[in-house]
Amino acid sequence: MPDDCFSAISSFLSSMAKLISHKTLLSTCLMLMLLINSCKFGASSEEITAFFIFGDSTVDTGNNNYTNTIAENSANYKPYGQRFFGEPTGRFSDGRVIVDLIAEYAKLPLIPPFLEASADFTNGANFASGGAGILPETNKGTVIDLPTQLKNYEAVQKTLVEKLGEIRAKELISEAVYFISLGIKQRLYGWLSGKSKNAGTLSPCNLCLHGHW
Ligand SMILES: *[C@@H]1O[C@H](CO)[C@@H](O)[C@H](O)[C@H]1NC(C)=O
Repeated sequence: MPDDCFSAISSFLSSMAKLISHKTLLSTCLMLMLLINSCKFGASSEEITAFFIFGDSTVDTGNNNYTNTIAENSANYKPYGQRFFGEPTGRFSDGRVIVDLIAEYAKLPLIPPFLEASADFTNGANFASGGAGILPETNKGTVIDLPTQLKNYEAVQKTLVEKLGEIRAKELISEAVYFISLGIKQRLYGWLSGKSKNAGTLSPCNLCLHGHW
């Protein structure tokens, strides 16, 4: 594990120690997973060339552009994207989202959304959909739920086998880094409404939603 990764994890842990409560545990685990995985990139960037993403609006980079969804679950209008891309991209951010930063760190191109026409998935694919929840019932019919995201991942596996051959595709898939960010907004809504018993303090993952990356 590279030294800078190690110190990133240490400083993350020490800052979390100040904030942590059982309420922030889920987000904490997600962030930690992220750091450890991004260190995996740093450790052997020559071998790891694919990055697969599942989740909700915290990591959707444009899939909901192509779904029959409601305005609240789309990000294809202004002012989304204005600070970094200069135009909306389908990201629920005025710039990049966390998976873009990880891809950059790993010296990968930005990972394309699964539904983008003729996208190249040899460096991975992003299956996330704004509004998706941990359970398929969340926003049913207007989002790509997790079981469907997994089916789409299987479809990408098949296209990779066709493109790269079975041996190389299997290697790529087994060595890839996987990132899941889900259930964050359910907690945020609870926090904002003040109704949920699970509502916690503002955690780093929630802050990502309002970041200016
Ligand atoms: C999503 O829609 C916006 C607005 O039309 C467009 O600028 C952007 O390129 C789209 N993103 C994708 C991934 O197709």
